[in-house]
Amino acid sequence: MANKNLAQNQNEITVLVTGGAGFIGSHTCVELLDEGYRVVVVDNLSNSSAAALERVRTITGVADDRLRFYESDILNRDALKRIFSENDIDAIIHFAGFKAVGESVQKPLEYYWNNIAGTLVLCDVARAHGVKNIVFSSSATVYGEPEFIPITEACPKHSATNPYGQTKSMLEQILTDLYVGDNEWNIVLLRYFNPIGAHESGLIGEDPKGIPNNLLPYVAQVAVGKLESVGVFGDDYDTPDGTGVRDYIHVVDLARGHVAALRWMGGKVGTGKAIGLGSIEGPTQTNGTRAGVGIFNLGTGTGSSVLDVVKAFSQACGKDIPYQIKPRRAGDIAVNYAVCDKARDELDWAARFDLSRMCADSWRWQSNNPDGYNAR
Ligand code: NAD
Ligand code: UD1
Repeated sequence: MANKNLAQNQNEITVLVTGGAGFIGSHTCVELLDEGYRVVVVDNLSNSSAAALERVRTITGVADDRLRFYESDILNRDALKRIFSENDIDAIIHFAGFKAVGESVQKPLEYYWNNIAGTLVLCDVARAHGVKNIVFSSSATVYGEPEFIPITEACPKHSATNPYGQTKSMLEQILTDLYVGDNEWNIVLLRYFNPIGAHESGLIGEDPKGIPNNLLPYVAQVAVGKLESVGVFGDDYDTPDGTGVRDYIHVVDLARGHVAALRWMGGKVGTGKAIGLGSIEGPTQTNGTRAGVGIFNLGTGTGSSVLDVVKAFSQACGKDIPYQIKPRRAGDIAVNYAVCDKARDELDWAARFDLSRMCADSWRWQSNNPDGYNAR
């Protein structure tokens, strides 16, 4: 069966968003709907709330039939078959998976099963329905301890220090092998740096379960008074202020990167010449849709330290954020930020928002929703 055509107008394109109720998924649904795509979400709500999708509807004001939601597990083959039969899906943006680094060390079987087996079932059912266009959520974690900074897509991959990171690296390989075996596959691997922030409406944002592991939600919960003080994990790194440096990217910019990836797959942007750097360029198909494997870093290209973040958030919320220096966290690297020239040149995409805007939006979400969606 020939692959689906992405060269057509986006009003005609239906995108299956797995994990669409989650943090990045819900923001991506907003951008897709705003751009006119039809969206079908599959999410088992294991780390999210259906309320997020209700708020996506409020933000976008779309009619019910442009955003359909199936509360199902991607491991459930029969449920997926039904979703593909009931909807004329053209492309998949695949977010569904577990993502907590520490938990993955304790529960490797659950992580490998959910992330790897889930993706295998998804791709198998998709292929059976002639859908071979997929954008995958990868991570800067695939670079491990990076060989050089700033990181380009040519930076060699290194083994991750935890099962979560391994699943990302392995899935990149599995999806690449799918293309090698069947040149109709059209695959984009997006390597996210550190997504933070929230939609400017303050209606959707990150809603972690329990005590957050990542810096931004932790800082936000200190700001709102739910936690006492931020632990800064190490101030003796070889960085300007001694604390770890990361490439924080606004989740709305990241979401826009997925729309750009769909356009690129449909042959609507990019020269198709500069793909290189680990990607595999395939022939453009007769309908204009690309085939191949495109690999892109999505970040801002700017590094910010832990103390930069604490300061920017203090300014956003108008109060001091108490913090204490703690020992380094095992497995952390000193500095991690991206070169995003490839995404700029090929996807015609660049991040727009700076750290102060990320913190302002994050604060609006956190202060309006101190207990998140609170509907689990
Ligand atoms: P999230 O947990 O908010 O979203 C993931 C969604 O997938 C959740 O809504 C969850 O309920 C759903 N899900 C999980 N397993 C499922 C299954 N088997 N079937 C159906 N639904 C399932 O996480 P996020 O931050 O939005 O991340 C989205 C993706 O991006 C993940 O794959 C994550 O690994 C990746 N990623 C995230 C970050 C980050 O910092 N947030 C960084 C790099 C990569
Ligand atoms: C972590 C994961 C990475 C994952 C990413 C997004 C690790 C080792 N890496 O990245 O695989 O893709 O989240 O989910 O867990 N920090 C503090 N205090 C805190 C929390 C963090 O000082 O309470 C520091 C960290 O040391 C780091 C920076 O803040 O320097 C960012 O940390 P975090 O938000 O956890 O992201 P990463 O570690 O970059």
